[in-house]
Amino acid sequence: MKDNVTITGSAHTDRIHDSAIKHVTGAADYTDDIAQPEGTLHAYLGVSTVTHARIVSLDLSAVRAAPGVVGVLTAADIPGHNDISPTGQNDEPVFPTDLIQFHGQPLFAVVAETRDAARRAAELAKVETEALPHALDPVAAIEAGYPHVTAPLKLERGDVEAGFANAPNRIKGRMVIGGQDHMYLEGQIAFAFPGEDDEVVVHCSTQHPSEAQHMVAHVLGVPSNAVVVNVRRMGGGFGGKESQMNIFAAVAALAAKKWNRAVKIRPDRDQDMTATGKRHDFVVDYDVAFDDKGRIEAVGGSFAARCGYSSDLSGPVTDRALFHADNAYFYPHVRLESRPMKTNTVSNTAFRGFGGPQGVIVAERMIEEIAYATGQDPLDVRKVNFYGGEGRDLTPYHQQVTDNILDRLVGELEQSADYRARRQAIIDFNAGSKVLKKGIALTPVKFGISFTATWYNQAGALIHVYNDGSIHLNHGGTEMGQGLNTKVAQVVAEAFQVNFERIKITKTTTEKVPNTSATAASSGSDLNGMAALNAAEQIKARLVDFACEHWGVAAEEVAFLPNRVRIGEETLSFDAFIKAAYMARVQLSAAGFYKTPDIHWDRDKGQGRPFYYYAYGAACSEVTIDTLTGEYRVERTDILHDVGRSLNPVLDRGQVEGAFIQGMGWLTTEELWWDTEGRLRTHAPSTYKIPLASDRPRVFNVDLADWSENRELTIKRSKAVGEPPFMLGISVFEALSMAVASVADYRECPRLDAPATPERVLMAVQRMKGA
Ligand code: MTE
Ligand code: HPA
Ligand code: MOS
Repeated sequence: MKDNVTITGSAHTDRIHDSAIKHVTGAADYTDDIAQPEGTLHAYLGVSTVTHARIVSLDLSAVRAAPGVVGVLTAADIPGHNDISPTGQNDEPVFPTDLIQFHGQPLFAVVAETRDAARRAAELAKVETEALPHALDPVAAIEAGYPHVTAPLKLERGDVEAGFANAPNRIKGRMVIGGQDHMYLEGQIAFAFPGEDDEVVVHCSTQHPSEAQHMVAHVLGVPSNAVVVNVRRMGGGFGGKESQMNIFAAVAALAAKKWNRAVKIRPDRDQDMTATGKRHDFVVDYDVAFDDKGRIEAVGGSFAARCGYSSDLSGPVTDRALFHADNAYFYPHVRLESRPMKTNTVSNTAFRGFGGPQGVIVAERMIEEIAYATGQDPLDVRKVNFYGGEGRDLTPYHQQVTDNILDRLVGELEQSADYRARRQAIIDFNAGSKVLKKGIALTPVKFGISFTATWYNQAGALIHVYNDGSIHLNHGGTEMGQGLNTKVAQVVAEAFQVNFERIKITKTTTEKVPNTSATAASSGSDLNGMAALNAAEQIKARLVDFACEHWGVAAEEVAFLPNRVRIGEETLSFDAFIKAAYMARVQLSAAGFYKTPDIHWDRDKGQGRPFYYYAYGAACSEVTIDTLTGEYRVERTDILHDVGRSLNPVLDRGQVEGAFIQGMGWLTTEELWWDTEGRLRTHAPSTYKIPLASDRPRVFNVDLADWSENRELTIKRSKAVGEPPFMLGISVFEALSMAVASVADYRECPRLDAPATPERVLMAVQRMKGA
């Protein structure tokens, strides 16, 4: 027996992603890598080429007659409910029967012997329609009297009218904030295997296997117990696979049952981008009153979002925009309203931050407005408005902010990034530089952790210890590259005091853990880590009872040491101990469960404690723009981010870096563009530009606030990391804004809209020159 002093891969240590080697060598299995059984069929979606119209007739005879085609699926082939709305609003048909509501909407599916045959045949449909007028963006939708896709939210605190009336300064403005395509490396995919009776097994790239399971059951008209959904891993999800996989899972399952053959469906990138939802773009009207020092006295905001034709997750997304419209700042009097607008575009969905980034950037815009109006460094305006101090700790949703660490965190970053001296140097540089201009900004983030749908904050896990001492770990979370499985395995390794390698990480499946929540809201390790720990503790408790009884010792005399167990005077290897427990008929398997305590939310009142805690961070970015072309580059970014006591610092840093870059992409080069006909013209990487490795900051210093510890009893006192650092990308946007403002000697707030593409930067420079 090796007498290890410590175990490998315990919590709070650096451990590379469990699949890192497989990712880079190509050995990691994704849904498309599953071996195809004899006779596998391939489905493809046929989509609309008009934006808003009544369907007069759908003639699929040419599709059916095309070579290799086995058949087609339309609304008429759905035995259960023709609806895959994730919130049960019954507004999202798998296939429409009478109304087309966006360009690229799936109308039917072709099923053929090969994917190529299906894809070609899908083009042959003859759809006769009667055109209807369309509204594409939230402003057009409001003008056209379009409805909300779901009930708006209102948050209010204080006496807003009095707040505005009594303040010496007031600024109103509008900000247009673009959406974002998820651009996961692995696109949407589902692969269904028919079983006997009503059964079907679906392998699907999904963040939410239980949702896919329930939707397949709903569409097939069978109970959930007939449907199994599996996912070993995704090649990225970023929110795009929380609900948007539903149609693919449903179509694959429908076809598998209809033809009793395995059926795979995998859209190409263009169809993935046009037929599935994205981040919501917003048009926000803000109204802010402040004193002469720049302290905010009252805020009003109307947040109109392009939700697309159906509700999908637009309710909770637009709610979260309001929850984050304060970012890190106390608003004494505030009224915020969401306007989740129906539009004739694809139905928008979850995307990293889930509406939060759109709220946060408006708070940062108001800070900028105040800074330019009062002639201050925006960082000073930020600081005087931070939560904290007598009576300054209530959010617009009446949750108290009790864990604010931004004074320290921002102070440390200000020092380590040498912010003040560099800002002065930049101002001096700009004064002497005609064409190139620089900007710098230090922006904070405070992000609420928990699903605002309170019931979602639950998780389950299943652990088996086999009688050879090996451990099988399963939980309800899904792996999309973020490292959730590694973290949860670390928790279990530490609980049993065994090496990480002893733990087998397994695919997520609705068969092992039922009724799971989406792996979303950054809560994967908080929820599933706790559920797995609970399962491990149950097994350990039984093992301790067994040891006490078998060896005649007290519980205090039983200790789980690295890879061994000490019982009184005796020490056994973990394997030998487990074998002995098995021989004594000890149950070596347990289902764990966890639900987040102390959270509640009353949406009608707009009051409660929706978040268990907050995660914090700050970033300082420096940019250079070329005022003749609008082109720019990020010279340097420094980040200090709070993940509490990190479960795995190297993985958390990876999340912080990736999220920052993705946030920067959202605000700089990633632009979604619909033409007046409602066609999305940026539907491929050729026209939609995500950041490249070469776009990253030239100098990129990323640190975790290693002194931070979650005050709440989260898993090992860690904090969620997936989404909060996305909003650190706002520092780049604000730095660009400063560079633009320099053209007119910082007299005026540039009011850049997002994304600040080179074109938009150039136009803003021109505007400033004219000012
Ligand atoms: N990281 C990678 N590599 N790939 C992803 O798809 N999704 C993000 C974030 N980090 C994502 C990612 C989003 S939107 C969320 S909500 C969280 O991971 C989900 O995982 P977690 O809760 O385990 O952090
Ligand atoms: N975040 C992410 N996904 C969600 C949420 C949320 O708050 N609510 C429902 N799905
Ligand atoms: Mo993340 S948008 O909550 O999947």
